Amino acid sequence: MVYFSDSPEQTKLLGEQFAKSLKGGDVVLLKGEMGAGKTVFVKGVAKALGITDMITSPTYAYMNDYDGILYHYDCYRLSSGEDAEALGLTDYFYAGGICIIEWSENIASVLPKNCKSVTIEKIDEGKRRIEF
Ligand SMILES: Nc1ncnc2c1ncn2[C@@H]1O[C@H](COP(=O)(O)OP(=O)(O)OP(=O)(O)O)[C@@H](O)[C@H]1O
Ligand SMILES: [Mg+2]
Repeated sequence: MVYFSDSPEQTKLLGEQFAKSLKGGDVVLLKGEMGAGKTVFVKGVAKALGITDMITSPTYAYMNDYDGILYHYDCYRLSSGEDAEALGLTDYFYAGGICIIEWSENIASVLPKNCKSVTIEKIDEGKRRIEF
């Protein structure tokens, strides 16, 4: 389905809506350019999953673990699937929680089959096209 968002708040709400379709073990590829709103979307997903911790971008940590319920990845600084494997990041794909991955393109070779996808496109400064 295609949705349009006019604000970060709306994108977060769409994240909450999307989260209702998720179950443990799902791996979600969250696609979109820098500043598209991927991390904003994850905030909504986390809220719907009952996570009350503040969601911050895991750019430097590569992955933030929210109580084994949600694993939020940012693979922007990884250059291969082998790097992700060497860091132990791929183990969490099979740990029973939900994985949501920004910049999954960088680790394409080690992604599981049957991932779900969310695509966010920047239309203008405040407007986004979101498909899932
Ligand atoms: N409709 C919208 N939905 C989401 N974010 C929006 C929207 N309009 C403006 N923004 C702004 O766009 C930015 C999105 O930032 P965010 O960190 O979520 O991007 P990102 O896709 O995770 O980028 P990166 O690849 O660098 O991690 C925020 O500053 C947010 O306020
Ligand atoms: Mg981000």
